[in-house]
Amino acid sequence: MALASSTATPRTTSSLPTPPMLDGGLPFIGHALDLRRNPVELLQRGRDRYGDLFTLRLPGSPSTVVMTGPKAQQKFFRLRDSEMSMREVYKLMIPIFGKGIAYDAEPEIMKEQLGFFHEALRESRLRTYAQGFVEEAEDFFGKWGDEGVVDLYETGNELTIYTSSRSLLGRSFRESLSDEFAKLYYDMEGGLNLLAFFAPHLPIPAFRKRDRARKRLGELISTIVADRRAKGLKEEDFLQTVMEATYSNGRSPTEDEMTGLLLAIMFAGHHTSGITFAWTGILLAQHPQWIERLRAEQGRVLGDKSTLELDDLRGMTELEWVVKETLRLYPPIILVMRRMLEGFDFGGYHVPKDSMVMASPAVGHRIPEVFTNPNRFEPDRFGPEREEDRKHPMSWISFGGGRHRCMGIVFAQLQLRAIWSHLLRNFDFELIEPRYEPSYDRMLVGPRSPCRARYRRRKTKTTVAVPG
Ligand code: HEM
Repeated sequence: MALASSTATPRTTSSLPTPPMLDGGLPFIGHALDLRRNPVELLQRGRDRYGDLFTLRLPGSPSTVVMTGPKAQQKFFRLRDSEMSMREVYKLMIPIFGKGIAYDAEPEIMKEQLGFFHEALRESRLRTYAQGFVEEAEDFFGKWGDEGVVDLYETGNELTIYTSSRSLLGRSFRESLSDEFAKLYYDMEGGLNLLAFFAPHLPIPAFRKRDRARKRLGELISTIVADRRAKGLKEEDFLQTVMEATYSNGRSPTEDEMTGLLLAIMFAGHHTSGITFAWTGILLAQHPQWIERLRAEQGRVLGDKSTLELDDLRGMTELEWVVKETLRLYPPIILVMRRMLEGFDFGGYHVPKDSMVMASPAVGHRIPEVFTNPNRFEPDRFGPEREEDRKHPMSWISFGGGRHRCMGIVFAQLQLRAIWSHLLRNFDFELIEPRYEPSYDRMLVGPRSPCRARYRRRKTKTTVAVPG
């Protein structure tokens, strides 16, 4: 799409103009209210009007430049750590993760911490996690009756608390303390609101609860660490990885850092996966022909096997396309941001130092020049005949891109495939609400509540067990 000419004032550091300012907005708060109400509509309006780059007015930032379209998205995701900072964007997480963890750490330290996650996500671990996903799904859905009504959003979030806590802290923790863990986790989440951006330590009940929960979780983790060390136990989970990790200067993470790192990975992967579970269910129920295709695939992949293993999950290609298409239409992270430490020129414009820059999977995924029939559910677009996501690098950006691309892609995909493999084989389901729409009330965008579906257990027994 052509870039429109700017009406904004040229800057001294570059002869190029800054990206055009989107009209509308209010005095003092600019476009903040529109962004809060329906961010996707606002960003789409800007793109329709100006193309790949335009500017929003938001409080607390001299300007916010929105970058959509494959080329602009590529530029965004290729920004180097020395050119931009993610700290401001994620600062509301600091009271939860702790000081000096992830985006609050110096870039070099953050890189090392992210390296610990790489280690926790290596191939041999994936096998253990996959086994956990399958067992958790069997256990969770095994408790469902022959028929009933469930809220898909709540179901996804509950089940992924179990799968995440198991992969993070191990099976014995998951079995003994899952209720307390879930409660602490919700109390921490309750502290994630707009106020936390501006005054994260105000003495309000939500922040006090958040801090109490964080402290208690730290105590629980210290107990597990002490127990493992005393008994010489080694588990296949994230905690074990951070217990054994060392920074390049030879220092081991403190127990407080271990807690922060575990929380960082938990917050990155929990709701994002839960939301994707819910949308997958909604879209499948709306497109029953795909349920049939996926059941046929289950038959092909599993045959009459009595076990379900990592390689089987990997072989579920059409289920993979369905999850990818779900994430294209309804990415839980609808926008990502950085603050520029340096200015740059791109697409005929100058983006000044100190601007915020923003990319949007939700808008980028519905560009008709990239994705044919962008508003339609067509998982085949990822198949060998169309491969639409390969035409432009960084056009499908549900997991971000470049050096900060999501580390949990494989983990999330395997988890969702394990859960949906079980559901497809064991349940029929139909939708109840007249409409299922995204809700922009939370930072991670899922379907608006209620989001119910009716399920019925299928007569044919197709449950497979994990290898013993
Ligand atoms: C469907 C599920 C998920 C979605 C849609 C998702 C999406 C994303 C996105 C868009 C980013 C980039 C953020 C940015 O550029 O500012 C990201 C980063 C990240 N994600 Fe995920 N994620 C998911 C699941 C997971 C899981 C399960 C884990 C861990 C097990 C995880 C761990 C991470 C980490 C560690 C980063 C930071 C990478 C870095 O900054 O270098 N994510 N994710």
